[in-house]
Amino acid sequence: MSLTDPDLHPQVDRQSRSARADWWRDAVVYQVYPRSFADSDGDGIGDLQGLRSRLPYLDALGIDAIWLTPFYPSPLADGGYDISDHRDVDPRLGTLSDFDQLVSDAHALHLKVIVDIVPNHTSVVHPWFREALDSAPGSPARDRYIFRNGRGPHGELPPSDWKSHFGGSAWQRVEDGQWYLHLFDTAQPDLNWQNPGIRQYFLDTLRFWADRGVDGFRVDVAHSLAKDLSEPLRSQPTLDRQLPMDGSDPLYDRNELHDIYRSWRAVFDEYEPPRMAVAELWTPTSSRTYLYARPDELGQVFDFSLLNAPWDRNRFVEVINTSIADHASHAQDGGGLTWVLSTHDVPRHASRLALPSAVAPIDWVSSHGLQPLIDEDLGRRRAHAATLMMLALPGSAYLFQGEELGLPEVADIPIDAVQDPIAHRTGGAVKGRDGCRVPLPWQSDGASFGFGEQQSWLPQPPWLGRYAVQAQLVDGRSSLQLYRAALSLRHALQTRETHLVWLSQDVDGALHFRRTNGWECLVNFSNKPIPLPPGQPILRSDCTPLGPGTPLNPDTAVWLWRP
Ligand code: NOJ
Repeated sequence: MSLTDPDLHPQVDRQSRSARADWWRDAVVYQVYPRSFADSDGDGIGDLQGLRSRLPYLDALGIDAIWLTPFYPSPLADGGYDISDHRDVDPRLGTLSDFDQLVSDAHALHLKVIVDIVPNHTSVVHPWFREALDSAPGSPARDRYIFRNGRGPHGELPPSDWKSHFGGSAWQRVEDGQWYLHLFDTAQPDLNWQNPGIRQYFLDTLRFWADRGVDGFRVDVAHSLAKDLSEPLRSQPTLDRQLPMDGSDPLYDRNELHDIYRSWRAVFDEYEPPRMAVAELWTPTSSRTYLYARPDELGQVFDFSLLNAPWDRNRFVEVINTSIADHASHAQDGGGLTWVLSTHDVPRHASRLALPSAVAPIDWVSSHGLQPLIDEDLGRRRAHAATLMMLALPGSAYLFQGEELGLPEVADIPIDAVQDPIAHRTGGAVKGRDGCRVPLPWQSDGASFGFGEQQSWLPQPPWLGRYAVQAQLVDGRSSLQLYRAALSLRHALQTRETHLVWLSQDVDGALHFRRTNGWECLVNFSNKPIPLPPGQPILRSDCTPLGPGTPLNPDTAVWLWRP
């Protein structure tokens, strides 16, 4: 799979790439869900030393950076997104000193480290929330959160119709009769971003981690910090699914958020190189999404449009065009273009892409993977093809741990083992996100397939060993080998322009684009083989021979080199 063409760009090694202040513009970032990555102490929970011991694996994979989802102290009501101390490490995962060692080892390999910042809410066991409960209505301690009196003659009705993302009302009543707002679980009270103390606390928290050497931040639900709390509270029963285009929604994507992120940028720019940030927001991709990626704000925003698209050529073309255009209209310096196919919040793309487009992936998981039954080989083929397509796009790409192993979603976790609060708040009607968070298989056998010495915190299905790293390392046609080859070639080929040219629109089911240097990607969405266009095939997602005479099979992709 190696390239010998002398016209090809010389390989830019990771050391040189990581030395650029704007390394993140075309980086491949690997998302680590620390509790499910590697367990060093045999308690069934992944930890920082486990991750540290596996850095050589990530080095060999060829990524540029790791993003760690929350590893902070937490009662785990929402997988660690319910934080009780934003400036420490959960003792089950390690210590601050372990964190420092991890950063130091990652940096020695020229891998960057991004951490999650969760500014919208805390845990109910956070000292601030305990203090708020112990304090009177109207007190400064309550003002850190969003407490209100209820409606109805006795205040027995929630203050507004606002909904929780995890089901039910977004308000919870406390003993003295007031209600507090929680856009997620009841164990995640929303902070009041009109309180200057909260704003200052998070600026200092960014400095706390930046001083420890982190290179960037992933900002959780970046579009929901600022809220219109003027009375009477306005109706908003639709979550962030339909939003006005002028920033006037009471809860999401409000215009004043941009001032908050300008103040964060000032902190990032105190460092050399400036720290990077990527906003997480689940608004339907719109021209407003990329506002957060402006250079004087966060710089980058997750674009989830590919992740939301079914396996459909026209849909893929449409989302790529829309994202490139929206990005171009806001992120003037071209920094913020990103692509994502899987995260810890959605069913893995190796299963998702096998579903008929009429079936919502979350409904399929809630049916325990039974409605419909899917063809796993088809899903894996399409996932490989979609990944090659994503990695050939301009901008940066975010990978989720385990996708490099071709892991499918574990849709049949027994309901009594499910941990996601979504399942609990919906009485099991929505099964939630555990199926993509199952601990990784490192070996084909053992108590938890090499994840640790004991069974893992979420049950692993017996078939998981088939996907083990150990087995894939010795199989030249494995998902892991494909990802390694793709990342290595991408580093040689990736260039910094943020546009592409579409080709061969006349061939049914073919998605074909070209980058300015002559790198092309062709994906076959049809149900019959299509002949290869001119150019040197350099990587095929189904690992068939690279010869130019071999047509491209359905549900597969090829990279071509035609300078
Ligand atoms: C987005 C995170 O990705 C998700 O896992 C979490 O449940 C919510 N934000 C709440 O923090």
